[in-house]
Amino acid sequence: MGKQPKHINHELGPMKCPVDLASVDLFGAGAQEHWYEMYEILHRDAPVLRIPGGGLKPGTDAYVLTKHADINTVVKDPERFTVMGQRRVNDWANDGLSGEDVFTTSRNLMTASMVTLRPTQELYIKHRKELTDPWVGTGASRHRELIERLANELIDEWIDNDSVEFISQFARPLPQRVFASILGFPFEDIPQLAQWGDAVVTPFVHGTGLKHELSPEQASEMFRRLEGFQDYIYEQVRAKRSNPQDDMVSFLCDVHYQALDRKLTDLEIAGIVHAMIIGALETTQYAIEEQAQMLCENDGLFDTVRNDRTKLRAFTEESMRLRSPTHGLSTRMTSRDEVFQGVNVPAGSLLHLRFAAANVDGEEFDCPFDLDLERHGVTRHLAFSAGPRVCPGANLSRIEQQVAWDVLCNRLSSIEYGEGNDWQHQPGIMLGTLKLNLKFTKA
Ligand code: HEM
Repeated sequence: MGKQPKHINHELGPMKCPVDLASVDLFGAGAQEHWYEMYEILHRDAPVLRIPGGGLKPGTDAYVLTKHADINTVVKDPERFTVMGQRRVNDWANDGLSGEDVFTTSRNLMTASMVTLRPTQELYIKHRKELTDPWVGTGASRHRELIERLANELIDEWIDNDSVEFISQFARPLPQRVFASILGFPFEDIPQLAQWGDAVVTPFVHGTGLKHELSPEQASEMFRRLEGFQDYIYEQVRAKRSNPQDDMVSFLCDVHYQALDRKLTDLEIAGIVHAMIIGALETTQYAIEEQAQMLCENDGLFDTVRNDRTKLRAFTEESMRLRSPTHGLSTRMTSRDEVFQGVNVPAGSLLHLRFAAANVDGEEFDCPFDLDLERHGVTRHLAFSAGPRVCPGANLSRIEQQVAWDVLCNRLSSIEYGEGNDWQHQPGIMLGTLKLNLKFTKA
């Protein structure tokens, strides 16, 4: 076995340490504590793992891809490997949930953002270029000073103590405040926005199996918790239309969407905000939280990046490679018969892309479990996926992480694990502990 994270306490979780292919269960309770051991077994024994009957249609299979080369091929070719997204809401509709107003609202939001504005690959690219890139993509560097200020404000709240619960006092509120500022929503609304954000990601946290399935009861509960979300955004849109500010929602109210030669409707704006909230909040939280763990676990690393800030970029990228926030997504279908690693994968199969496994694939990365600040092509990892559908918020998240650590390096001269950590992981498809106590020395 390669190097495993030192903190992982196998006695905590219900799952036993996997020793062979038969004991690999990527989606079982407590799997998070064993994912990296499973990836080594999968790379060795089943780099393409068939899940019989796991496909979308009865009688079709799903396949878990774990090799960097395979996932890279899939995400770069959306014609050959169709992208999914609308499927889940349609599934719930078939489950008889469509009568509910809140459900209809959620479906409308997703439809507005995905189907109306970007039904084709060509429109998808224009959508990104014209609507989201100026704020969270190519234009994200404009938020550098904002992020720096918000990070300093959060640190001010605990810098005179000698310990901090790092998630609730930094890693979670920072992306929340950055995102509220970018959208132009008041900070006092963050607790409510966070609740909606939590509801929106329910399938990725509490869903079961590789399709992140929710029971009808769980789905109803999720829609109930989303109540008020659309009205809130409509209210914000009304306010911004009458009194525009320098923020993303005001921009979306005013922009002439050239791809469709018209302005956006309120529903379309709400749909974009909805999609952004799914992607933006927990992901960056987990990246920053796991980076703190990497610093505690690698002797001398904090001093190295503190003394040479040009290394922060490689540090954050290598950390995302080694502890990818989103471990995998089942978002592609084969449109024709394919062969991966000698395994025949028929047309119409569901593909689960295991980004985190690809990121520790020894065929792509030398010494894959080493955090190497000098690694060649340090952004080659697939934590944000790749190709035309690569995460649209990757630039924003990268800047958030680098600025966060730059500010933390200014304010702290050392960090180490504090007392009372239990290393319990959040369930679901993301990698992150529920709490992280750190001890630090003020700079
Ligand atoms: C460390 C932080 C993040 C990680 C690891 C991450 C990862 C991902 C991944 C793996 C995908 C799937 C791409 C694909 O299907 O090929 C994705 C999609 C997406 N991400 Fe992120 N993301 C992060 C931060 C963000 C941020 C900050 C935003 C918004 C500002 C965002 C917005 C989105 C959206 C809207 C999508 C869906 C795009 C679509 O419809 O195709 N993400 N992200």
